[in-house]
Amino acid sequence: MPLTDYRTALVTGASSGIGAATVQALATRGLQVHAVARRARKLEQLAEDTGCTVHQLDLCDTDALYRVLGEIEVDVLVNNAGLGRGFDTIVNASREDIERSIDTNVTAALHVVRAVVPGMVERRRGHMVHIGSIAGLYPLLSSVYGASKGAIHLMCQNLRTELKGTGVRNTEICPGRVHTEFFDTAIDDTGRRQSMVSGFELLRAEDVADAIVFALDTPWRVNISTIELTPTEQAPGGIAIEPVKRPGR
Ligand SMILES: NC(=O)c1ccc[n+]([C@@H]2O[C@H](COP(=O)([O-])OP(=O)(O)OC[C@H]3O[C@@H](n4cnc5c(N)ncnc54)[C@H](OP(=O)(O)O)[C@@H]3O)[C@@H](O)[C@H]2O)c1
Repeated sequence: MPLTDYRTALVTGASSGIGAATVQALATRGLQVHAVARRARKLEQLAEDTGCTVHQLDLCDTDALYRVLGEIEVDVLVNNAGLGRGFDTIVNASREDIERSIDTNVTAALHVVRAVVPGMVERRRGHMVHIGSIAGLYPLLSSVYGASKGAIHLMCQNLRTELKGTGVRNTEICPGRVHTEFFDTAIDDTGRRQSMVSGFELLRAEDVADAIVFALDTPWRVNISTIELTPTEQAPGGIAIEPVKRPGR
């Protein structure tokens, strides 16, 4: 089902970063795009720039989520809204960080799927693109954020099996570091925040939007299951070559 066969898209977390770039990319390709986020002024600007339809909505308000999304016929879902509170180690995460991250990244993402998937199955047309992270695939010293994105990884894999035979496709996009407002929300310490967005050239939001469009634009027989993209100078993993020295041994 190439992109030209889809008519409507719903992008969550559309007011900045990857979401805003994706709204732009999909609107350029002729889709009627519904953009969801909380910040009204950013959404108004996006509507002015792209012609998208905006919905000011806190996805953690589950009743409002079902009310608003239940009204929209969605061909393409970009399940993108997310944040990185508690991005550092769990020792440095507050109770509120953990709850906010799981409520937004996991619970709301599942409700968004639940709200749109019945219509897709009924129409036998739909493609859900879920924004995971390399933090959901590899240990990156971030157990709270990693747990939330690991959940997205297995949600997407399970959706692939649950929806087999319905005509609905599922793709997970796993970016490495992208230069967006993500780190402003995630990290309070200015020095640490700055270190996350400097030192090498990060991905741009448009690079991730390009990957999303690529997955959407494949022929119907093709389901791109996972795309992992990182900055050229960022590679997860590797083991220490030097043995760890322990006192007294
Ligand atoms: N930047 C990275 O390095 C990176 C890497 C891998 C994966 N990701 C993932 O990519 C996705 C997009 O992040 P980004 O980098 O583009 O950061 P961003 O610019 O901070 O965008 C996050 C978006 O999520 C929205 N959002 C957050 N909580 C929401 C809520 N309760 N209800 C509705 N919308 C909400 C925000 O809008 P409002 O504040 O206006 O509501 C914003 O539009 C996230 O899932 C993130 O985990 C980012």
